Amino acid sequence: MRQLLFFSNNKNKIIEINKIFNKFNLELLSLSDLNIIEEPEESGQTFEENAKIKSDFGFNKTGIPCFADDSGICIESLNWKPGVFSKRFLNKFKSNEACFDSIIKSTEKNNKKNAYFKTSISLTVKDNQNLIFNGKIEGKISKQAKGKFGFGYDPVFIPKNYNKTLAELSTKEKNEISHRSIAVTKLINFLTN
Ligand code: IMP
Repeated sequence: MRQLLFFSNNKNKIIEINKIFNKFNLELLSLSDLNIIEEPEESGQTFEENAKIKSDFGFNKTGIPCFADDSGICIESLNWKPGVFSKRFLNKFKSNEACFDSIIKSTEKNNKKNAYFKTSISLTVKDNQNLIFNGKIEGKISKQAKGKFGFGYDPVFIPKNYNKTLAELSTKEKNEISHRSIAVTKLINFLTN
């Protein structure tokens, strides 16, 4: 059985990815299985760069093929930011609601409604040799924050051709269209073909 390291400390992501990998003849390891506590600084300017920093780090530490992901939201009215700073941007506000209000105000003021989520997965298989798998979901910023499912920016994002926010969709429905699942599907197709 081939071993593969998923460079993440996010328990929910590890559970989600484990479920997908169960079906395949791959032994998926996480950082805690290998007692890795150090993490590199995510100093990249793009999702691809940050994902590569993490997957290279994991491969260099263990010699095991390693993949890592990096995601975020890009909002037209904020000049397509916060991007790689999505987590830090949300944490700057006193609550998620305060952040959502600010995004909605800027969207209405500039009359620029578009937004997208993007995930980049980097797979490092050999010294300094990596592959990138991208997933993107396009949509727009809602007029008000709505919904209780999901996490992060889900309550203010309406996917293209939908009239609900991502936080109003069930996890199953979200997973059918999400940026993360698109990128993971590409990774799985590569690994199993
Ligand atoms: P990460 O790189 O996947 O940990 O994502 C960084 C940040 O982007 C998260 O903390 C969220 O704020 C935001 N984000 C990424 N994916 C999603 C999503 O599917 N829904 C809502 N927010 C997301």
